[in-house]
Amino acid sequence: MTNKKKNNYISKDNLGKNVFQKEIKVKNKENKEAKEKNAFPKDIILSIKNASYRYSDAEEDDYALKNVSFDFESGKLYAIRGRSGTGKTTLLSLISGLEKCTEGEIIFDGKSLKDMNLDKYRNSDIGIVFQSYNLLPFMTAAENIILSIDANGLKIKNKKEKAIELMEKVGLKASYADRKVLRLSGGEQQRVAIARSLSYNPKMIIADEPTGNLDKQTETEILEIFKKLAHEENKCVIIVTHSQNVCDAVDKIYDLKKMQEK
Ligand SMILES: Nc1ncnc2c1ncn2[C@@H]1O[C@H](COP(=O)(O)OP(=O)(O)OP(=O)(O)O)[C@@H](O)[C@H]1O
Ligand SMILES: [Mg+2]
Repeated sequence: MTNKKKNNYISKDNLGKNVFQKEIKVKNKENKEAKEKNAFPKDIILSIKNASYRYSDAEEDDYALKNVSFDFESGKLYAIRGRSGTGKTTLLSLISGLEKCTEGEIIFDGKSLKDMNLDKYRNSDIGIVFQSYNLLPFMTAAENIILSIDANGLKIKNKKEKAIELMEKVGLKASYADRKVLRLSGGEQQRVAIARSLSYNPKMIIADEPTGNLDKQTETEILEIFKKLAHEENKCVIIVTHSQNVCDAVDKIYDLKKMQEK
């Protein structure tokens, strides 16, 4: 073999080796990723890891939320408790992907929110319930739910039937479907809001002071709905609250404290 041919032969050989080594690297990376995914505890649906958040107009070290780490499992009901200004609503904005952590990260179902399509996440994986219900008052209960079905692009043949099914699930009679939200009581409106959040069957439901405007008896009834969703439908339900009644009913309480209290 001439020197030239020999060099060619060697370089081709090296090329083959390089490709082979690259393949091994890719395989190792895939294995590592699979291992990491499997290492994520099976029942933990949401993990908040060292999350901090500072609003853009806040002073340099004025964090609304500092170094928070909480884990949440499927099938459990949680309360996040804390005095006014401790960052409860801010934390829900991070969990729902409306804001991004300044530091730390949030992992949903083994995947960092940083790597997810957040619109899709909000429209399919999590349901959000607000203290003030956020319903359209001049539309009927069923129309409010159908609006959410449409907004999420769900292909459902009989949307009204689906809306009524969801309403019955939260203890509202079918005859309420055609009633304008304006003519429903606060407790009934909150039930419609919960039914709406269930329209795309999310794995997780987060609620900001969902019983803040309700009397104790109605609060207990709404809590029963959340309990059932967690314990019978394996959803992870997270409620931000000031209420002792709510804290007594949940499986686990996480406390948020002000920065200066930490
Ligand atoms: N848009 C904003 N811009 C700047 N700072 C904000 C903004 N929203 C909230 N904050 C500040 O972040 C901190 C946490 O607010 P957040 O609303 O999360 O508290 P909270 O625990 O939900 O209070 P509450 O129980 O009163 O609802 C507060 O100091 C608040 O002033
Ligand atoms: Mg709040």
